[in-house]
Amino acid sequence: RRSWLYKYRGFVFPNMFFHQIRDIHTFDVREDDIWVVTYPKSGTTWVQEIVYLLMNDLDTEKASRTNISLRFPYFEFMEPGLKTIAEMPSPRLIKSHLPLSILPNQIKSKKPKMIYIVRNPKDVVVSYYSFAMKFLNVVPFNGSFEDYCQLFVSDKVDYGPWWKHVSEAWQRKDDDNVLVLFYEDLHLDTHKQVKEIANFLGKSVTDKEVDVIVKYCSFENMKLNNSVNYEWMKDAGVANKKVQFMRQGKVGDWKNYLSADITKQLDEMMATKLPPDLFERI
Ligand code: PPS
Repeated sequence: RRSWLYKYRGFVFPNMFFHQIRDIHTFDVREDDIWVVTYPKSGTTWVQEIVYLLMNDLDTEKASRTNISLRFPYFEFMEPGLKTIAEMPSPRLIKSHLPLSILPNQIKSKKPKMIYIVRNPKDVVVSYYSFAMKFLNVVPFNGSFEDYCQLFVSDKVDYGPWWKHVSEAWQRKDDDNVLVLFYEDLHLDTHKQVKEIANFLGKSVTDKEVDVIVKYCSFENMKLNNSVNYEWMKDAGVANKKVQFMRQGKVGDWKNYLSADITKQLDEMMATKLPPDLFERI
């Protein structure tokens, strides 16, 4: 597994993204870009769809017409790629799993709006394993779920260490251009969180409009919505036809999967590696 990962500035990444690391650093950022940044499997797609609707007058018909990968591209991924993203009209909506310290240099000076989502790592590891090992059929790892969890707590799963990724964003939580959200809060009160996102984006919405977004972006609806559920990855031959991207969409599902040993190691990791005020929130 290690051979397909690349170590860079204290993080590990899939090798396939790293031929373009210089282009990532020198990418031209615009002040009116909107970035959704997360450690993978933390609620990216959910928030992307909410942001897309807010930025497009709640046009659900338009949202359902085009794959989210084109409407809201994954920055460091090969499709559509940095060149295409560089030419997109403003305001660009961009998704990335890169930690803040590895995003383009100009992020610091242009200060585009950035939404970062944190999710409990116990649910993240379950979701990531299911995605990488069951949904995708291209990841070269034959170990068990327990082995995968062990790699995660040893900071050897791509885009990790998780704690370093989230800690970097947490340090910036009070910056005017940064909004840090929690997947668990989105569950608890989606309506309130959508309002908060709208406010951050400078969009005024009525309660009725918020309700439209909450409903359109519910797990049940997104599961059936081919513009967001990554079904096209199956047609491209890189995902397993029998597995769904929208797996469970729950908080605390880890209790059904994690061993006592891994749970203990993750608790210890959170207690020792996270800033105390972030630890309290998770
Ligand atoms: S990715 O591939 O990193 O962009 O994945 P990401 O979107 O960050 O995370 C996928 C998990 O989020 C769940 N999900 C949702 N939960 C609740 N409501 C909505 N609308 C929603 N959309 C996606 C998805 O099911 C994955 O979590 P798990 O626990 O695997 O179900």
